[in-house]
Amino acid sequence: MLPAAPTVSPDHIVKTMKGPFTSPPDEVELAEFVMRRYRREDSAALAAAVTESLEHLRPWMPWIALEPTTLKDRERLFAQWDRDWAEGVQYSYGMFLEDRVVGGAGLMRRIAPDGLEIGYWVHQDFVGRGLATCAAGTLTTLGLSLPEVTHVEIHHDKANVASGRIPEKLGFSLLREQPSDEPAPGGTGVSLIWRMDGSHWLPPPFPRSDEPRLRRRRPGRPN
Ligand SMILES: CC(C)(COP(=O)(O)OP(=O)(O)OC[C@H]1O[C@@H](n2cnc3c(N)ncnc32)[C@H](O)[C@@H]1OP(=O)(O)O)[C@@H](O)C(=O)NCCC(=O)NCCS
Repeated sequence: MLPAAPTVSPDHIVKTMKGPFTSPPDEVELAEFVMRRYRREDSAALAAAVTESLEHLRPWMPWIALEPTTLKDRERLFAQWDRDWAEGVQYSYGMFLEDRVVGGAGLMRRIAPDGLEIGYWVHQDFVGRGLATCAAGTLTTLGLSLPEVTHVEIHHDKANVASGRIPEKLGFSLLREQPSDEPAPGGTGVSLIWRMDGSHWLPPPFPRSDEPRLRRRRPGRPN
């Protein structure tokens, strides 16, 4: 059983990286898992994680309607995520335990020019271990480290109580409810909107001996 995992602090990022960020780092090594961009060779591992979690994800993730998908389509998706990353539209990360995909998380630029929305899902065999909270906390730090970003938000269906625990545990403020832009298949169609401003973010500390290492992709290295 994995313990609840820690998040990375903004100070640590600033010390480790040669900022300011124009995009977040490609990879963050956390105490219990690695959060990194997908590479083409991750197709099979992502397919396995999604297939093993279909019924767990189906009520809440609209994209599950496209599953199961082909290897080629998944490679096209990775290519699209790379374009989105380069354009700053969306930063998609896989959550890896060794070569196994245990979840996915990302930052999406779709709420405001100076704001990012955080999304996440966790493999059904790995829920309840704090992985989503760790990923969302880390993405909060990374998102708020981008020069133009003043706030991040988490949106989830009102009926998705487990998802709502993540912003609550991280200290986000519940702003309002509103009709969902992308209704979850098993949801109410009403989203709860949680927000964290840069000036209010106090990330949980991470253990001394397990400080995460942040890596940028080397030029010329494949995805
Ligand atoms: C929501 C989800 C990402 C949570 O992942 P996780 O790694 O288990 O999350 P964490 O362990 O960090 O925290 C989950 C919290 O929800 C609580 N929880 C789980 N199921 C719950 C339920 N049915 N009712 C109430 N609380 C619940 C857990 O007890 C935990 O809170 P606690 O730490 O106070 O005990 C995961 O269940 C998932 O992938 N769901 C399907 C996809 C999804 O809903 N994504 C989010 C879309 S907005």
